[in-house]
Amino acid sequence: MLEAFSGPKRTSWGDRLSRPMRIVVGVSGSIAAYKTPMIIRLLRAAGHEVKVVATQAALQFIGAPTLAAVSGYPVSTGVFDDPAAIEHVAVGEWADLVLIAPASADLLARIAAGRADDLLTATVLTTSAPVVVAPAMHTQMWLNPATVENVDTLRRRGLVVITPDSGPLTSSDHGVGRLPEPDRIVHEALATVTGQEETAARLADLPLKGRRVVVSAGGTREPIDPVRYIGNRSSGRQGVALAVAAHRLGADVTLVSANIGAEVLALLPAAVEIVPVGTSRELEDAVRSATAKADVVVMAAAVADFRPVKQADSKIKKHRLGGSDSPGGMRIELIENPDILAGLIARPPRTDGTRTFVVGFAAETGDENGDVLAHGTAKARRKGADLLAVNAVGKQLGFGDVPNALVILDSQGEEVAKASGTKDEVADALMELVAERLAAR
Ligand code: C5P
Repeated sequence: MLEAFSGPKRTSWGDRLSRPMRIVVGVSGSIAAYKTPMIIRLLRAAGHEVKVVATQAALQFIGAPTLAAVSGYPVSTGVFDDPAAIEHVAVGEWADLVLIAPASADLLARIAAGRADDLLTATVLTTSAPVVVAPAMHTQMWLNPATVENVDTLRRRGLVVITPDSGPLTSSDHGVGRLPEPDRIVHEALATVTGQEETAARLADLPLKGRRVVVSAGGTREPIDPVRYIGNRSSGRQGVALAVAAHRLGADVTLVSANIGAEVLALLPAAVEIVPVGTSRELEDAVRSATAKADVVVMAAAVADFRPVKQADSKIKKHRLGGSDSPGGMRIELIENPDILAGLIARPPRTDGTRTFVVGFAAETGDENGDVLAHGTAKARRKGADLLAVNAVGKQLGFGDVPNALVILDSQGEEVAKASGTKDEVADALMELVAERLAAR
């Protein structure tokens, strides 16, 4: 049987990995251990070096001489086989991949519990290599809630658990729990490494990798009294989409969130830091503090231009609203809020010599003095941000879960790009442009 796999012939899955790897094959107590030598032969035939670590129970099913012969190394079992060599650490460090096949229900439980009572469990605890586990057991054991939970735990921690096949088990039993055939196990184990290496390479290549991006989003609320406020219709959707886009391009992202609903914030990956704020002054403090370490700040928040001069400590009663000099009416005296964006340019919070790239948003409607673009161009020159994304807002445009169209201008008011589509699509386009501009500086 083994002869079928002998010889130096490279398998298709072996070819996918350019470098030969050092692989620890773990074996635990299951009748399926009779398949392990074939797995080892396949790995070696694909050019990889293999060391076997077996549990004591495994050796009830398969002899150490067999495993040693096919791997070319003595078989290790206990943590104290050679205490001077601190093998439990050394084997884990040696490995580029740990593949455990078969993994018994007991072994899954011990790994899930973080135990280190033999060399195999200790190796799993000490290795930084990917760990692939191929369980084999009776159907009842596989389906038992304890095993189900243990498998969930391992997967949550990033171990790859290959789902067992369904088919003949020991004696006359039949069902799920059968160790998959050696070629499938080898294929999945090697594909795991390839996949993880590709992911790592992709992440290292991302254009905003290592950059810190701050996005302000949502709309500020300026209290009139503890119940009422002056606010705006911004949902925060566009800003959240920008935070997601920046994260996707590899940035470390902080979202300063002004009154954004939980259903919108739920779109953010867990890695995005959220700083909740209410008023424009809170937003200013949070944005300036986060921008002190940022490479990019995107002001997508709709900041109230004015706030009430006075905020009542208790709810203003209706009969007090008007006052004798304005029966039926009410006056709220307003004061202008600071322009946070302008402040970021005039007084940059980052003081270590690195200039933060500043992006503003301008939601515009046309009026008798000019169309959306004319207002946008004037604003781009006035504000001086590196980029200003101008979008038209109105009844069907701009606010909430609706498509968006942006014209992106530079600090001179010159058109740099246009982007239209969903809020996610325009966010991707804008963040890619930011990454390009940043790289070109
Ligand atoms: O002047 P306008 O509100 O249209 O400017 C829009 C841009 O300026 C946005 O990027 C917004 O976040 C920012 N802004 C600000 N502080 C204000 C008003 C707006 O930073 N007080």
